Amino acid sequence: MAKIKFIAADGTETEINAENGTSLMVAAVNNGIKGIVAECGGACSCATCHVIVDPSWYGKLTPPAQLEKDMLEFAAEPSETGRLSCQIPVTDALDGLVVTVPSAQY
Ligand code: FES
Repeated sequence: MAKIKFIAADGTETEINAENGTSLMVAAVNNGIKGIVAECGGACSCATCHVIVDPSWYGKLTPPAQLEKDMLEFAAEPSETGRLSCQIPVTDALDGLVVTVPSAQY
């Protein structure tokens, strides 16, 4: 279990308890985080689960695979610390993670 903070585009902060073994995207959707569209259901083929990882956390995550890097090129509001939340597995190591949800997903 990891406590994860989502910051919406309007600055609203929501903290959730994410179960280990799921993805950050599934945890967000299950907890009603707005702005995580996840059109492809986690298949790494849509980029609508894009989040911007707090820079202090980015290097602590498992690096993105090539497919994720390719898909990130289609993400709205690209960022150097952008990730696809469906490609981030939840573990205890994510406890305290902070991510921002972009104002749009496409
Ligand atoms: Fe489609 Fe993550 S849900 S890429």
